[in-house]
Amino acid sequence: MSLKRIFFLFVVFLAFSLTAEGSQNIITLNYPPDKTVMEFGLLSVSLSIPKNSADLIKVNVNDEEKVKVTPSREIVCFSVPLAVGVNKIDIILIKKNKLVDNAVLSIFRRSDLVSVYKTPPAGFQKDYFHMKDHLQCAACHTLKPSESDRKSVNIITFAAENLTDGKKAVAAASTCYSCHKRITSYPYVHGPAFVWSCLSCHDPQTEPKYSVMKPDTKACFSCHLEQKESWNKKKYFHGPFNTGNCALCHNPHASENPFYLILPTWYLCLSCHVDKGSGKHIIEGYVYKESHPTHGKPAPLRKGRELTCASCHAPHASDYPKLWTFDVGNGFDLCKKCHIKE
Ligand code: HEC
Ligand code: HEC
Ligand code: HEC
Ligand code: HEC
Ligand code: HEC
Ligand code: HEC
Ligand code: HEC
Ligand code: HEC
Repeated sequence: MSLKRIFFLFVVFLAFSLTAEGSQNIITLNYPPDKTVMEFGLLSVSLSIPKNSADLIKVNVNDEEKVKVTPSREIVCFSVPLAVGVNKIDIILIKKNKLVDNAVLSIFRRSDLVSVYKTPPAGFQKDYFHMKDHLQCAACHTLKPSESDRKSVNIITFAAENLTDGKKAVAAASTCYSCHKRITSYPYVHGPAFVWSCLSCHDPQTEPKYSVMKPDTKACFSCHLEQKESWNKKKYFHGPFNTGNCALCHNPHASENPFYLILPTWYLCLSCHVDKGSGKHIIEGYVYKESHPTHGKPAPLRKGRELTCASCHAPHASDYPKLWTFDVGNGFDLCKKCHIKE
């Protein structure tokens, strides 16, 4: 084959592959790059489209529609929820009910709780957004942090100062808010994130920028002194607590679950202790019964709360064997704490 012919075939192939897609590459994805690795459940996206090229943008995550935006500018920004593992993000541009273009991204959400998702698949890597200047974004957003982003948080007076009226006012003064606003849009919001004191954990002087001190205990115990002192005095420590990786179980920003847990307690514990959900382990050797409930019943000693693994076991540290939450030396005394006259 002559070189000319090869070139001709190549051009035909190119033209064909474009029309076969039925799209015209209208979308320019400004952020993020394909195959990025994320830690938590939210991804920020920014893209450019020519004026009047679409009247609706739909975003599917793993084939489920998650976001719908009506574009009003040539630059469109939104955030999408992520599941753990690989997420296929399909951004679909629609004009007059017809698909005009789409762009597909693969984003990996890492998790230490699921062994297959601990490390990213080949080809995926972290992209540190704040390591670059992003002048394009700076045209509309402020990227340089201000004093209000490190507003001091006093854990003792926090509730009295903040959990009263006029809650949202602080977010408005935050530099981070314009892009990361959804990070706090969950039912349970952690104190420092609630007041948008993002720099109380994220240090702008580090490399990569905004890294959090490792292990997490360094950041967490800078405010949680009471827990630090009380836990350090205990006799027994829980395996994952010992690693100092608090964000393994807690989302440092906000969550759907009380205590900002990444999963509801029962599911959280079961992600490592798969065999304990049946509750068989609790009464083996005590009574002739198959199993003991481990969730789905009211907790006898904690009003308004559900019985969970944490009703009997402390997730961090304890003075008692098996990390019991109660002052008991053996399992039988444990039973009596809840079953007094039964
Ligand atoms: C032309 C102005 C403009 C530019 C340039 C721009 N943005 Fe935005 N961005 C906005 C506006 C306005 C909003 C608020 C949109 C809204 O609430 O509907 C926003 C919101 C966001 C959000 C929050 C979206 C959400 O709903 O959670 C993110 C994330 C974001 N921008 C990222 C970026 C990034 C990254 C860049 C650079 C690649 C960028 N933006 C460039 C105007 C811009
Ligand atoms: C122009 C929008 C924008 C602003 C303003 C912004 N961020 Fe980001 N930030 C992003 C995007 C986009 C990412 C990529 C990860 C994602 O999807 O959330 C990111 C990622 C991060 C990360 C993860 C590490 C990294 O570099 O990727 C941290 C931590 C962070 N931002 C903190 C902050 C803090 C603190 C502020 C306020 C001082 C802030 N951001 C302001 C857009 C922004
Ligand atoms: C209590 C400490 C703490 C506070 C306060 C905090 N963060 Fe974080 N943030 C973390 C930790 C820990 C990580 C996990 C990354 C790591 O370990 O390096 C993280 C990660 C992130 C990421 C990356 C998310 C991802 O999926 O990869 C973004 C974005 C971010 N933080 C933004 C913010 C913003 C915006 C605020 C202010 C509202 C804030 N953070 C406040 C501790 C904190
Ligand atoms: C800048 C100070 C500060 C840092 C750093 C901090 N916290 Fe907090 N934390 C607070 C405040 C204030 C509260 C009380 C308000 C609330 O319930 O969120 C709180 C509450 C909590 C609660 C709920 C306590 C309860 O009894 O309901 C948990 C769980 C928690 N933090 C975990 C963490 C973890 C994990 C880290 C480290 C990643 C951390 N915190 C770092 C200030 C901080
Ligand atoms: C194995 C998972 C796990 C790890 C790791 C973990 N936590 Fe927790 N944490 C929990 C659970 C579950 C609860 C809720 C317990 C309950 O229901 O009483 C909790 C509750 C809390 C509370 C509120 C109740 C209290 O005891 O004061 C704070 C504060 C807290 N954790 C901070 C931390 C810090 C700081 C670290 C890191 C040193 C950490 N946690 C590590 C699972 C964990
Ligand atoms: C990330 C994995 C992980 C998670 C999540 C986890 N654990 Fe553990 N747990 C461990 C490891 C590792 C050990 C120590 C090894 C062992 O003794 O099996 C352990 C040990 C224990 C022990 C035995 C302690 C002893 O002294 O015999 C109890 C009880 C326990 N965990 C309860 C819980 C509860 C309750 C939760 C949920 C709040 C939980 N675990 C969540 C990993 C985990
Ligand atoms: C009603 C109290 C109670 C509840 C609820 C409970 N446990 Fe236990 N757990 C016990 C007792 C009692 C033992 C000691 C059993 C033994 O030594 O025979 C134990 C032991 C353990 C051990 C240590 C086993 C070993 O081999 O050393 C782990 C891990 C554990 N539980 C995890 C869990 C998890 C995860 C949940 C939630 C699904 C849970 N437990 C719920 C009472 C409870
Ligand atoms: C943290 C409180 C708590 C502790 C500690 C506890 N239980 Fe229970 N137990 C419960 C609750 C709640 C139920 C469910 C009651 C109901 O069905 O309303 C229950 C139910 C039972 C049942 C009935 C199970 C069924 O399926 O009908 C038995 C038997 C039992 N417990 C034995 C024990 C024994 C033995 C121990 C000590 C090893 C123990 N419990 C420790 C809270 C506890």
